[in-house]
Amino acid sequence: MTTLQWDDALLLDQPELDTIHREFVDLLIEAESAPDEQLLALWQRIITHTEGHFGLEDRWMLAAGFAPENCHMHQHKMVLDILREGVSQAAAGNLQLLRDMLPDLAKWFDYHARTMDAALVYHLQTTGFDVHAEPSAAAPAVALAAAPSGCGCSGAGSSNACG
Ligand SMILES: [Fe+2]
Ligand SMILES: [Fe+2]
Repeated sequence: MTTLQWDDALLLDQPELDTIHREFVDLLIEAESAPDEQLLALWQRIITHTEGHFGLEDRWMLAAGFAPENCHMHQHKMVLDILREGVSQAAAGNLQLLRDMLPDLAKWFDYHARTMDAALVYHLQTTGFDVHAEPSAAAPAVALAAAPSGCGCSGAGSSNACG
């Protein structure tokens, strides 16, 4: 029995992101019901998937000139840092931390997709940005140092100003 579930209200009318977002939620659902011996491996899959997910959005933001003052990329980095810290904690025996993080991660994602990702998709669609022309697979990884910052976020929880 899982408490997490996909919500069609998360659909952004952007096929690539909608697929990636659905996959992300499916991984969270899978992790929620995973036995202890599988949880860390699943967490690693979540990290790998999230690296691709955030990396694609980051490249689109840079290529499309999306709101240079935005903190979207900064928030991506913070969440990935938290996910990676979870690996360290779990490897030290604290699997419960990962289980505790799952509902927070789902809650964060729900708000992030409806706000920051929705704003990005709106920008891409209204500017006519061709996501298929963007060489996503060949593009170099985005360094945060080259990305906008200064969003004032203090964490990935739902209570901060960045969602
Ligand atoms: Fe996203
Ligand atoms: Fe995002």
